[in-house]
Amino acid sequence: MLKYSSALAALAMIGVLASPTLAGGTGEEPPKFTDELLNDPAVLAAGQEIWVEQCQFCHGKNAYPGKAPKLKPRKYTPEFVYKRVTRGFKGMPAWGDVYNQEERMAVTAWIKSKDFSN
Ligand code: HEC
Repeated sequence: MLKYSSALAALAMIGVLASPTLAGGTGEEPPKFTDELLNDPAVLAAGQEIWVEQCQFCHGKNAYPGKAPKLKPRKYTPEFVYKRVTRGFKGMPAWGDVYNQEERMAVTAWIKSKDFSN
């Protein structure tokens, strides 16, 4: 019985790890920001689109002052941006349930790209 229940517990853990509903939580594979990804024009274009549609409203230079901080991309690692985008933080909404991992990686790559501006 003991053996059986620990096998069940192990199965449950595997289920949690593989669960897409936990996207943004600990169940998701950590993203790998390779130079290739960060410089891929298709990725950057997708990221820019998300930025314009969802982020500029609060972060852009036309947002009213104080709505959201002007981003300082050179100070961030891609992992930091990705974490904020996925989980949110205080006034920053979480996007983990809105965008899949690829999309969140794309907007991160865009913010880190040389062409990005607030
Ligand atoms: C509703 C307004 C709002 C929207 C929309 C929004 N943000 Fe934010 N964001 C904030 C606020 C407010 C903060 C500051 C949170 C804090 O640290 O107190 C923030 C913080 C951040 C940070 C961390 C900045 C730092 O220096 O700590 C990043 C990165 C970021 N946002 C990226 C994005 C991206 C990418 C999007 C679009 C997917 C987005 N934000 C959409 C309001 C917003």
